[in-house]
Amino acid sequence: MAISRRQFFLQATAAYAALHSIKANALSTALAETGLKDLYKDDFYLGTAIGASKLKAGSPDFLKLVSREFNAITMENDMKWERVNPTPGQWEWDLPDKFMAFGEQHEMYRLGHVLVWHSQVPSWVFENGKGKPASRKELLARMKNHINTLAGRYAGQMNAWDVVNEAVDEDKGWRKSPWFNIIGEDFMDYAFNFAHETDPKAHLLYNDYNMQNPAKREFVVDYIRKAKKRGVPIQGIGLQGHVGLGFPDIKEFEASIEAYAAEGMRVHVTEFDVDVLPVAWEFMGAEISTNFEYSDELNPYAKGMPAAIEQQLNDRYVEFFKLFLKHRDKIERITLWGTGDGESWKNDFPVIGRTNYPLLFDREYKRKACYNAVAALKQG
Ligand code: GLA
Repeated sequence: MAISRRQFFLQATAAYAALHSIKANALSTALAETGLKDLYKDDFYLGTAIGASKLKAGSPDFLKLVSREFNAITMENDMKWERVNPTPGQWEWDLPDKFMAFGEQHEMYRLGHVLVWHSQVPSWVFENGKGKPASRKELLARMKNHINTLAGRYAGQMNAWDVVNEAVDEDKGWRKSPWFNIIGEDFMDYAFNFAHETDPKAHLLYNDYNMQNPAKREFVVDYIRKAKKRGVPIQGIGLQGHVGLGFPDIKEFEASIEAYAAEGMRVHVTEFDVDVLPVAWEFMGAEISTNFEYSDELNPYAKGMPAAIEQQLNDRYVEFFKLFLKHRDKIERITLWGTGDGESWKNDFPVIGRTNYPLLFDREYKRKACYNAVAALKQG
């Protein structure tokens, strides 16, 4: 029986709506007990960073959510030198041990963060005990002891280590950190060698921000080539991935994924978040000592994110996750730098006291629209 155009339109619309809601229902049912990690299980590990307060307070709901949604974890701060080894001979194992136990309990990929970095290191590390800089020999011995003790404690249980963090200063080559200034440019080779001797099974990474910067990319590629010839056990590259709505150019990000993979490196996106706030004085780095003065202009969404910005956030997440899926053969892991917006460092960096929305869960740990958009990419 022939039907009118209007009837046809109504039937088609109803059919579409039914299909759509079946899909939406199927998605929420599928995700009720499982999470994003299950949707992406054939692509790469999906991780988050965990802060001490959550482990300390033993927040059961939060930890349940983390183990449902993610299959990789990084300690946000408590394996950094100033926390784990604040004074010579003093080691604070309580939180790192809790972190390892949580990861083991849920069979998660555990990432140790971090062995050698210029930030969040107590000043005694670089001194000789008499107020003068340590010698190369002293600092190398200290580095070795630190790596032997920290990576040694978790040898065989840690999947990977960020061995060196942020050793390159944008397009200026080696960052003139105390590690570089005191030891010289072979400090990085030493760090990788010490880590490998301590835990031969752990996968070893160099990790940095703005890894899409072409000059930084070239410098790192050059280092990898030369280091491999010297037998340095570097196996992966971490692109921190602190991005914004308008930066970086995703093509440059892709070029870096391809360039590092072409050198035989596994690629990890280690600290992903999407800043939605205005760029403070065009500042785009992640050098954590930088701060700019607060102004209301720089904090426009204190009462909530406007729909248009939320749409841009969703689109940006989708754009990046499509890229990650395209290069899934090269990518080992995508880790978000935190779970809920309220806990993100992006509320205080580079301007203290702003309200930012960079992650997949809101301040009440509800799934955001960007979460659903990323999940939908894996719905057939
Ligand atoms: C860098 C470090 C991280 C963390 C962030 C800011 O990216 O690698 O450990 O400190 O800055 O939270």
